[in-house]
Amino acid sequence: MLKIENINVFYGLVQALWDISIEVPEGSIVSIVGANGAGKTTLMRTINGIIKPKSGKIIYNGIDITGKDSNYVVSNGITHVPEGRQIFPKMSVYENLEIGAMFIKDAWEKRKETMEFVFSLFPRLKERINQAAGTMSGGEQQMLAVARALMGRPKLMLVDEPSLGLSPALTLTVFDALKKANKEGVTILLVEQNVKKSLEMAKIGYVLENGRIVMKDDGKTLLANPHIKKAYLGV
Ligand SMILES: Nc1ncnc2c1ncn2[C@@H]1O[C@H](COP(=O)(O)OP(=O)(O)OP(=O)(O)O)[C@@H](O)[C@H]1O
Ligand SMILES: [Mg+2]
Repeated sequence: MLKIENINVFYGLVQALWDISIEVPEGSIVSIVGANGAGKTTLMRTINGIIKPKSGKIIYNGIDITGKDSNYVVSNGITHVPEGRQIFPKMSVYENLEIGAMFIKDAWEKRKETMEFVFSLFPRLKERINQAAGTMSGGEQQMLAVARALMGRPKLMLVDEPSLGLSPALTLTVFDALKKANKEGVTILLVEQNVKKSLEMAKIGYVLENGRIVMKDDGKTLLANPHIKKAYLGV
C-alpha cells in the first residue's frame, strides 16, 4: 500500500534521514521504533507532505505522492496523529472530531456514523463531547487525536508516538483502539519509543537509529533480538 524508496531528508545542510526504504502492506500494522532524535517524526512528516525529501520516492497505492502537499495526501486517505496531539484546545471534543472529517468529502458525509465508531473505541470522549479539548487530561487528548484522525476515514493512518506521557493503562487503551481500527480495515504505520508494546502488535517492525533503518523483521522476532533487548528493553 505504501512504499518508501531510498528517501533522504535534510534540515538545511543537516541530513536527518538516510536512504530510508519501508514497505507497509495493506491491512497491516507496521511499527518503526527508535530513540529520541532518531528521525521518527521527520519520517512521518515526510510521508504526510509537510517536509519534502531531497531524493527518493514515496509510492502510495501505485501513485507517486513524493513532495505532494498535505491536503493532497489527506484527501487520498492518509491521515496523521501528530506528535504532541495538536488538538484544538478551545474547541469542544465534538468540534475537533468534525474537523477530522471536514476536508474529505466521503468522510464528511459519513461523519455521524464514524463518530459512533470512535465513541465505541473511546467512550470517555463521548462523555466529554461538549468539553473544551484543552481542559481534558493528556490521555484524553491523545484519544481525541487518534479519534480525529479516524474521522477522516483513512485507509492509512500515520501515528506518531501515541504513548508519550501516558500511563501504562492509558497506553493500553490507545493501543487497543489502534488494533480495533486495524481490524476494521485501517492500515497503520506507527512510530514509537515504546518498543515492547509497539513491536508486540506489529506484523512488521523496523528499527531506526540516527536516521537510518538498521533492522527489519516481524515484530516478535525483533523483540527477541539481543541488540533490541539490550539497547531498547534494558534486559
Ligand atoms: N525543524 C528542525 N530543524 C532542524 N533539525 C531538526 C528539526 N526537527 C528535527 N530535527 C533534527 O532531526 C533529527 C530527527 O528528529 P525527529 O524529531 O525526527 O526525531 P524523533 O525520532 O521523532 O525524536 P523524538 O522521539 O524525540 O520525537 C534530530 O537530530 C533533530 O534534532
Ligand atoms: Mg518525534
